[in-house]
Amino acid sequence: MIESLTIQRRELVQGLVQTPARISPKYFYDAKGSALFEAITGLQAYYPTRTEQSILAANAPEIARAVGVNRTVIELGAGNCQKAKVLCESIHPACFLAVDISEEFLHEAVATMRLSFPNMEIQAIAADLTADIVLPVNLPTGRRLVFYPGSSIGNFDPPHALALLSRMRDLLQDDGALLIGVDLVKGEAVLNAAYDDDEGVTAAFNLNVLDHVNRLIESDFDIRQWQHRAFFNAEQSRVEMHLEATADLLVRWHGGSRAFSQGERIHTENSYKYRLEDFVELLGRAGLTHTQVWTDEQAWFAVVLARP
Ligand code: AVI
Repeated sequence: MIESLTIQRRELVQGLVQTPARISPKYFYDAKGSALFEAITGLQAYYPTRTEQSILAANAPEIARAVGVNRTVIELGAGNCQKAKVLCESIHPACFLAVDISEEFLHEAVATMRLSFPNMEIQAIAADLTADIVLPVNLPTGRRLVFYPGSSIGNFDPPHALALLSRMRDLLQDDGALLIGVDLVKGEAVLNAAYDDDEGVTAAFNLNVLDHVNRLIESDFDIRQWQHRAFFNAEQSRVEMHLEATADLLVRWHGGSRAFSQGERIHTENSYKYRLEDFVELLGRAGLTHTQVWTDEQAWFAVVLARP
């Protein structure tokens, strides 16, 4: 279930009055944010999507064999379902369930999936992965494959990533498997360019969160007064995204306000980059101890099949 507006408002205000201020990255994904994210995935500088796609395509028969017969594929953070489409073509599940936080975007994507797979049962639910995921009661029984591509796991701090992986382990029951994409540590220049592209698409994606927040808490953020900042924090092994005030500002919302000085930042996202052995260890701690890994030539990205 999507959180109620009251909970979202409370969370947003709590984040905005903190020092440093923060906005959870889940608020990126209103309809415009989801479309901007889709545009990011097509950028030359943003290597994760195409690298993951190439790993999935190059190893499709082997992945299909390793995955085995799965009656139901559950894709978390389904987005435009583009990757699930490729996967479903090779593993032919009886049922596909798309789970995503953006309801509008999800329904469009599912309609497209229905055209491509007229004989497959297709379901969709809008859910926030930071809370418990309640599966539809009429989901067919049988082996499940949880598919979590795109290195979205990287947007969770390690303790939350562990909690999410443990919830996935529960979803897939004892005979299922998790197929997950994870972005790996690499040179800083490549990482910085991927999150601060020359076309300004990532900047627009980051800034758009302020318009979304304006609608949710009736605030008066003016995106022209904020600047996109993104950089690799090597100590934490993560790319950080922030929004920086370009002048001294007062932002008001229904029931409150916050002054920002010029240069002060709102932390909007972390994107953790893993060493493969650390990620495999994390999976193990979530109870997913049997793993099989596929990667690209440069070892920039990994696709991991993990079982209990
Ligand atoms: C969704 N997620 C995996 C993206 C990432 O790379 O962390 C979100 C993103 N943020 C900026 N560009 C893309």
